[in-house]
Amino acid sequence: YNLFDIIYSGTAKYLERAEKDVAKAIEEKGRDAEAKLPDTAYGLATIYAITGEKLLTVGDLERGIEMAKEHINRTNMLADALEAGVAAAMLCEIIQACKYLDGNPHPEWVDGALTDAVVRSFGVALVTQDIPGVAVIIGEHKDPEQLAKTIKSYQNKGLQTYLVGKCIDQARDQKIKMGVDLRVIPCGYEIEDVINVVSVAVRASIMFGNTPAGEWEKHRIYTRDRVFAFVNVFGDWDDKIIAAGACAIDMGFPAITETYINEVPTLLLNQPDLTKTDATSLEARGIKIKVTEIDCPVSVSFAFEGERVRKDNMKAEFGGNRTKAWELVHTVELGDIEDHKITVVGPDIDDPQFDGVDVVRIPFGLEIKVAGKAMQSDFESVLERRLHYFLNYIEGSMHVGQRNICWVRLTKEAFDAGFRLRHFGEVVYAKMLDEFGKVVDKVEVTIYTKEEDVVRLEEELVRPIYNVRDDRLNSLTDESVDVFYTCTLCQSFAPSHVCVVTPERLGLCGAVSWLDSKATKELDPTGPAQPIEKNGVIDERLGAWEEVNDVVAKCSQGAVEKVTLYSILEDPMTSCGCFECICGIMPEANGVVIVNREFGGMTPTGMTFSELASMTGGGVQTPGFMGHGRRFISSKKFMAAEGGIERIVWMPKELKDDVAERLNKSVQELYGIENFTDMVCDETIAVDSEAVLEFLTEKGHPALEMDPIM
Ligand code: SF4
Ligand code: NI
Ligand code: NI
Repeated sequence: YNLFDIIYSGTAKYLERAEKDVAKAIEEKGRDAEAKLPDTAYGLATIYAITGEKLLTVGDLERGIEMAKEHINRTNMLADALEAGVAAAMLCEIIQACKYLDGNPHPEWVDGALTDAVVRSFGVALVTQDIPGVAVIIGEHKDPEQLAKTIKSYQNKGLQTYLVGKCIDQARDQKIKMGVDLRVIPCGYEIEDVINVVSVAVRASIMFGNTPAGEWEKHRIYTRDRVFAFVNVFGDWDDKIIAAGACAIDMGFPAITETYINEVPTLLLNQPDLTKTDATSLEARGIKIKVTEIDCPVSVSFAFEGERVRKDNMKAEFGGNRTKAWELVHTVELGDIEDHKITVVGPDIDDPQFDGVDVVRIPFGLEIKVAGKAMQSDFESVLERRLHYFLNYIEGSMHVGQRNICWVRLTKEAFDAGFRLRHFGEVVYAKMLDEFGKVVDKVEVTIYTKEEDVVRLEEELVRPIYNVRDDRLNSLTDESVDVFYTCTLCQSFAPSHVCVVTPERLGLCGAVSWLDSKATKELDPTGPAQPIEKNGVIDERLGAWEEVNDVVAKCSQGAVEKVTLYSILEDPMTSCGCFECICGIMPEANGVVIVNREFGGMTPTGMTFSELASMTGGGVQTPGFMGHGRRFISSKKFMAAEGGIERIVWMPKELKDDVAERLNKSVQELYGIENFTDMVCDETIAVDSEAVLEFLTEKGHPALEMDPIM
């Protein structure tokens, strides 16, 4: 056989099916019927990236087939064969759209086509390389146990793994924990469903890279250089799988097959030894993983961050209003600390007194002492907030909240595997040194579980430190500091994007505060956080400084020359794509609407989150639209140039409730209005523009009386 023949034959099969499916759709639904994938602003994203055209109706799909055919030119050249792979991807996307005509075609455990919001939620993890790579597993594995090992190996390293075909059921049988949050994502049972992962890579290029639709060559370069994906094909291949593989190779993703087929150096490799699939794949894609050995009986990995622990599977619980719990990181002198000392004071979860108890609930005081020559008290809160992640990385452990409202749950499996309280200490110890080794030389962990200790220490030790810290935070304003910081972390995906992080304006991902930036600068002096001296004020109201402009111009390689920090209309800050919320103007209400990524519904602007989000991103300035973090909503600097937080007229209810306390406090202090959020509309009140206006008028919302916003 000949590799090229196989690719062309596979593509022909996709073509045949797409033609049949579309013909049926035309007959049953008509050409004008809507044909779209779930909650995306890009129509069929892959076809949009390749051709620049958004397909939105059944009639468009027919046109899509014609466009795909243009990519099929049968010759003996590799480039043309790979181009046929591109056609295969287009056809698969058309087939997927047909599948979705009557709603979600996949069983509930299959994620299928991911929404824009979900793809955006990967942003921060991708740039920080918390997700160091993406594995696509296709086919049926001859040894399900080995398949589970391979998936677990990827999961333990934090990779995202997408499953296509029979391997989904095999993984389910092997009790692999799956779902977007656990980074094991079933795409669908048919090979055509592989398009759902292709679409994720392509949308990363559109959203974060701002790569123009229709310029496929640029998308290919983006995916090759920035999306560290690879493909594993188990079992026998067939021509359809190979045609899909051709598309992967075209995007720079190597394919590793169990069964021999021709080899294409570095891109198409054969690995019959199934215990080596993971190693061969990581090497082929050049993915290097830093491993820290931790003395812990369960896995500790980024991939378990999103894992939930349900009541019926719970062995122990601390905090969450059931018992008292707090966590504290504080600095001590180097002489007052014993490195790697881990102490549990009080009963552990396997104490004989708990024999026969269904769920162990005990008080929990987690005290972490740190010491180091470069340690600063300002970093304590930065380190402490990381506890949330460190405890969540543990397989079978869930951490919610922070400080003295923290809440931890542990599964029966973790307990049965031998996990005890001391292991929290081991994980925290290893991770603290791993991430903060530049400022922390020694770490000591003590866990208290006796009620009297936990209560006493909270009064004597913990609260006083929280109070000092809160006073420091409250005194931190943009006026009170001499430097702001850049964050250029997202440049690995959005090459010209720069966040300017100030005490009152955190990074738009919501994950980087001014204190975080200060610590990052110390940890990585030449890294993403660089200080900006506040020199050369141009306009205080807009938040414009010459030095800010100079640094942003330099960091964006000249792509952005001017930014203001407090305006949404005049030279607003750019967005990269991973923002938690997006804010857009609602002219008729003389105010703004804010919508968070998790909200899937419609907003009064007539656009959903995904649609609003698609208006900006990729490091481009778009006046009138601003991506930002949740916490920024209560900032006194929130679009201060246009009148500030008083302009907020609509938010999804969940977001409104989440920010209410802080927002109301800020509005009260700035404008003397009590309970401002009662005047802010949400989807449970009205979404339709007129009804929203009616509500605002009835409540006397201040935005209606303000100067025209535009
Ligand atoms: Fe990306 Fe800005 Fe967050 Fe940095 S602060 S990670 S650049 S969104
Ligand atoms: Ni966990
Ligand atoms: Ni980003």
